[in-house]
Amino acid sequence: MDNIIIKGTNLCRYYKSGEQTINALKNVDIEIKEGTLTILRGRSGAGKTTLINILGAIDRPDAGEVYFNNAELSSLTDKERDEVRRINYGFVFQSIALIPNMTAYENIEFELLLSNYPASERDSRIKDCLKLVGLSNRAVHFPSQLSGGEAQRIAIARSIAHKPKVIFADEPTGALDTKMGLQVVNVFKSLVQNEKLTVVMTTHDPNMMEIADYVYTLQDGEIVNE
Ligand SMILES: Nc1ncnc2c1ncn2[C@@H]1O[C@H](COP(=O)(O)OP(=O)(O)O)[C@@H](O)[C@H]1O
Ligand SMILES: [Mg+2]
Repeated sequence: MDNIIIKGTNLCRYYKSGEQTINALKNVDIEIKEGTLTILRGRSGAGKTTLINILGAIDRPDAGEVYFNNAELSSLTDKERDEVRRINYGFVFQSIALIPNMTAYENIEFELLLSNYPASERDSRIKDCLKLVGLSNRAVHFPSQLSGGEAQRIAIARSIAHKPKVIFADEPTGALDTKMGLQVVNVFKSLVQNEKLTVVMTTHDPNMMEIADYVYTLQDGEIVNE
């Protein structure tokens, strides 16, 4: 137990805008333990999105290393890195990007088509995923027929469908009220507890903290506590 599934060491990220250079991340060290819910918190502009995108191999650091299961990602080619991401990671965002003219079921199915999930197992996997987010009774609903919280839970069902090991969620509750936000975080918590998933999410909502196993606070691109 307590395997470290993702590790970032000495992570730095600079953005140039005109004459100015913004140090969005300054020598960040972070470890994500397997089978835990980790929250990255901090104000707007603190560097949360920058960090989660680097940990999730969507973006590369300007300095420092990111490891997945002890494999250092910068030594990989873009193609190898994309493969690591595609197989092992799932993503959930603040804006719930479900496809509007597909039902909840079809949205999840589409994801499985893209990841070449075995055809004969697709139907049962979709039903399992709907059940895991507590929405078996919403399979034939279109996104416009779902509440914001339900739509985000369908987006979570979609993100876990291909059986990734880690879910990265950038402000997944940012567009929801506190009640729906807590439902979403509780779905993550149950996935961690029952499915052994690892979840990394960002938020600036203080109501979410007690549900997390670990909380890292970012301030001006630095981690100020652990
Ligand atoms: N593409 C970009 N170009 C220039 N500056 C950026 C870019 N993305 C983020 N930043 C800056 O980097 C800092 C961290 O941003 P971000 O990681 O989005 O913070 P958070 O998600 O915590 O709000 C901010 O000062 C932001 O303005
Ligand atoms: Mg952000």
